[in-house]
Amino acid sequence: MTHTGPAASRTCPASAQEVPATDVTDPAAPAADPLVVEFPLREPGVPFPPPHYADYRDRRGLVLSHLPDGKRVWLATRHEDVRAVLTNSKISSNPEHEGFPNVGETVGVPKQDQIPGWFVGMDSPEHDRFRKALIPEFTVRRVRAMRPAIERTVDKRLDEMLAAGNTADLVADFALPIPSLVISSLLGVPAADREFFESRTRVLVSLRSATEEQRKSAGKDLLRYVIRLIAIKEKWPGDDLVSRLLANGAIAPQELSGVLMLLLIAGHETTANNIALGVVTLLTHPQWVGDDRAVEETLRFHSVADLVSLRVAVEDVEIAGQLIKAGEGIVPLVAAANHDENVFECPHTFDPSRSARHHVAFGYGVHQCLGQNLVRVEMEVAYRKLFERIPNLELDVPIDGLGIKYDGVLYGLHELPVRW
Ligand code: HEM
Repeated sequence: MTHTGPAASRTCPASAQEVPATDVTDPAAPAADPLVVEFPLREPGVPFPPPHYADYRDRRGLVLSHLPDGKRVWLATRHEDVRAVLTNSKISSNPEHEGFPNVGETVGVPKQDQIPGWFVGMDSPEHDRFRKALIPEFTVRRVRAMRPAIERTVDKRLDEMLAAGNTADLVADFALPIPSLVISSLLGVPAADREFFESRTRVLVSLRSATEEQRKSAGKDLLRYVIRLIAIKEKWPGDDLVSRLLANGAIAPQELSGVLMLLLIAGHETTANNIALGVVTLLTHPQWVGDDRAVEETLRFHSVADLVSLRVAVEDVEIAGQLIKAGEGIVPLVAAANHDENVFECPHTFDPSRSARHHVAFGYGVHQCLGQNLVRVEMEVAYRKLFERIPNLELDVPIDGLGIKYDGVLYGLHELPVRW
């Protein structure tokens, strides 16, 4: 694990994250020769966020990198630059634009002719219609109404874990099923299909351990599945999001396939990684167990979706004094922004007492995560119930032996062996 320093200290503890700054004269001033760095795919043995993010933040302008396919891409790492990228109208989320930075041929943002309705890959005004139709499903009020059902789901998982013995893999038995079951129930996806969509998603988001062919085939499987599900809901509507969207009519049934696929994928894998990493952090910082503020700080601290927000400049644009030419890709690294020491004091210290709400773990601007209210409730209920019902929970492997996901778009754990 990466961050193990004591919490709430105003003098930052020594940390593997602290690396010497290289060019601190005026980070926002234009860079004559931008630093060219490796694309930040995670590497075994390198903590996350990688210590060199601090070095990039201290450089002038932006850092230049190359995607695995050789295309140039700019990396934004300071908090203000990440927010500037994510709110600039000359910068697009649409993969149709020349130069859009997908991380691999089939990893990134699909085009509309591949998956219609994949609205995270649209700009205003097309994007607004989807967002407007979906917002009512994810308001604080709606999510609060889901809380009793979420509590029942969490309790059932814990009943099963406790009945099975005194050890568990907290990823497979807890962190993954909870968001999977919650999103299934919201969308009207049968709980029995969990294995199917989890396994396909796992392949889709893995960068190194799956081939292009395997990813293409997983994507096709999921698309076929959601198309079938929509046809079923058209015939036999239920009390679920898909049926409500069909009745509303703002989104055409063929576009609903992308909406549904996006929600299904985004709705479980991200949250599962955050729940699992948060449990490890709470086990190593037990003074914060039972304090709901840990949820927000966990989101900032781990920033699992570092490589998720992909963008391309559609006109020449300047960010941090750096000219980005039309057709050049930009990746705002949210983990780097969330560990920016100019915004978060002692950013590598896990400190739920800080005010972390302005973190960008959910992105920023018009594409900011639609599921964030739901995530907060899921995490709150998961941590509360887990530590209330199993107060003697502990890791069943040394902390350095945890299986960290180095091969995925998302940061997380493959498994989390625990005992009680
Ligand atoms: C800890 C869990 C989660 C994290 C860290 C996370 C992170 C993110 C990020 C960074 C974005 C912005 C992408 C961009 O700028 O291109 C995003 C967008 C999105 N997320 Fe999440 N997400 C999480 C959970 C969820 C859940 C549970 C759902 C669904 C219920 C969801 C649905 C979405 C959707 C639909 C978008 C696209 C919004 C738009 O384009 O308007 N996410 N998420």
